[in-house]
Amino acid sequence: MFFSLRYAFLISILALSCLETERLAAAELPQDEVDALNLITKKLGASGWNFNADSCGEYLPRVRPTDPERNISCNCRTENNTCHIVSLKFKRFSLAGELPPELIQLHYLESIDLSYNYLNGSIPSEWASLQLKSISLLANRLSGNIPSYLGNFTSLTYLDLELNQFSGMIPHELGKLVNLKFLILSSNKLDGNLPMELSKLGSLTDFRINDNNFNGSIPDFVKNWKQLKRLEMVASGLEGPIPSSISALETLTDLRIADITSTDQSFPDLSNITGLTRLLLRGCNISGEIPLYIWEMSKLRILDLSFNKFRGKLPNAITTETLVFIFLSGNLLTGNIPMFRKGMTVDLSYNNFSEQSIGQPACQQKTDVTLNLFRSSSMGNDLGGACMDDLKCDKCMILCDPASVQSFPFCTMNSVGGQQTYLYMLAQVHECLHVFTISKF
Ligand SMILES: *[C@@H]1O[C@H](CO)[C@@H](O)[C@H](O)[C@H]1NC(C)=O
Ligand SMILES: *[C@@H]1O[C@H](CO)[C@@H](O)[C@H](O)[C@H]1NC(C)=O
Ligand SMILES: *[C@@H]1O[C@H](CO)[C@@H](O)[C@H](O)[C@H]1NC(C)=O
Ligand SMILES: *[C@@H]1O[C@H](CO)[C@@H](O)[C@H](O)[C@H]1NC(C)=O
Ligand SMILES: *[C@@H]1O[C@H](CO)[C@@H](O)[C@H](O)[C@H]1NC(C)=O
Ligand SMILES: *[C@@H]1O[C@H](CO)[C@@H](O)[C@H](O)[C@H]1NC(C)=O
Ligand SMILES: *[C@@H]1O[C@H](CO)[C@@H](O)[C@H](O)[C@H]1NC(C)=O
Ligand SMILES: *[C@@H]1O[C@H](CO)[C@@H](O)[C@H](O)[C@H]1NC(C)=O
Repeated sequence: MFFSLRYAFLISILALSCLETERLAAAELPQDEVDALNLITKKLGASGWNFNADSCGEYLPRVRPTDPERNISCNCRTENNTCHIVSLKFKRFSLAGELPPELIQLHYLESIDLSYNYLNGSIPSEWASLQLKSISLLANRLSGNIPSYLGNFTSLTYLDLELNQFSGMIPHELGKLVNLKFLILSSNKLDGNLPMELSKLGSLTDFRINDNNFNGSIPDFVKNWKQLKRLEMVASGLEGPIPSSISALETLTDLRIADITSTDQSFPDLSNITGLTRLLLRGCNISGEIPLYIWEMSKLRILDLSFNKFRGKLPNAITTETLVFIFLSGNLLTGNIPMFRKGMTVDLSYNNFSEQSIGQPACQQKTDVTLNLFRSSSMGNDLGGACMDDLKCDKCMILCDPASVQSFPFCTMNSVGGQQTYLYMLAQVHECLHVFTISKF
């Protein structure tokens, strides 16, 4: 009895270790991919990295979001006992080499993420022979023109070249990337027009070209991007007016067009784009009234219509459930300050509102709202009226310029949206010192 139990125990140990060996054996990378990986990482500028047949699934655990991130992900076939690398991520390693043509030795590679390094040069033409679906080179030092042969990377669904030093025009060949969902080209030195061929990118869900030197008008063909969820053209160099056909992009959730030169224009008709969560039309030379449907958008969280020429009154109460940030600075709005929902952060500075007195909506407001009323009335520096004394300067909101954050002691970081480092700073001060504008959104 005792013996047989012991025997059974031994058997199970043996069985377990067999399984273990089998699992490990199944996870082996072929030697040519190991060699390629060692060569590739060396060319990228990594030193002291050494990969072997067990490197599949290897990743360095991250503690903070700013830690380097390394992930080698493989597709393993048990019948063959081999794995193939399908995805590489070497992020935030300060790698200072070049993009290696030898990447093509990883025949099964679909995705590469080398964001936040110091890689220079450009994307090798050889990569065209891979079936790459995703390339992220965000925040590197790549330069020269965006290569026209990228048009041969027809499997691409994701291309992020943000924050590099690419210059010249966008090659019209990118119009061949019909599977592309994400095209992110912000913060480069791109110029010229957006090529007409981009209109063929019917699968696009996300297009961003902020902070470039483009010229010409915002093209009407954006209306062809019927799946678009996010459109960003902030300080892109493109000129207005915003094409009225933008109304057709009914799936948009995030629309940011800002800092454009434009002839006088009226508010684009966004009444059918009911899923907007963020709407930024800052500095677009828009006049007329803010349409009432804006206050009824049931998903809107952040609204920035600053630095336009909006006239007319706001509704008596702005209580949209989801709305958290409202920026209407630098317009010609008149009438009363509305009542706002508790917890909102609102900038009404530099407008032409009436002076408020007891009995008017804002003065009955008892809830906690962060309100900037600096120069919000034509009548003087701040709104007068006894009731406004508390509101006036107790909780002024100050928009800090990134450059002045360090030197401005009242600024405390307040993260917005959770994804990027937007620089909205809240300060509790006893005087409205000065209103800084945001230089980049
Ligand atoms: C590594 O990358 C793969 C493929 O992109 C992903 O599925 C996996 O979750 C990543 N692992 C870690 C730990 O981030
Ligand atoms: C084994 O791998 C080779 C090359 O990687 C492939 O051509 C072959 O189809 C695979 N066989 C099986 C059974 O998966
Ligand atoms: C990339 O950087 C290396 C080292 O700094 C330099 O020698 C090389 O010329 C650079 N290449 C390009 C294309 O800028
Ligand atoms: C891109 O594709 C075209 C047409 O198939 C071909 O002539 C050209 O050589 C390819 N370019 C590269 C860099 O692969
Ligand atoms: C737009 O940029 C292109 C390329 O830099 C240039 O050739 C063209 O003259 C520019 N057009 C205008 C109207 O500025
Ligand atoms: C705004 O429109 C007016 C009238 O068309 C024009 O004079 C002015 O230059 C425009 N401003 C900007 C910044 O484009
Ligand atoms: C909004 O949708 C309605 C109903 O489909 C349509 O009749 C109207 O023309 C659309 N408005 C705009 C500005 O696209
Ligand atoms: C501001 O409002 C006052 C009175 O409400 C009006 O007289 C004045 O013209 C307005 N100023 C501007 C620049 O619209």
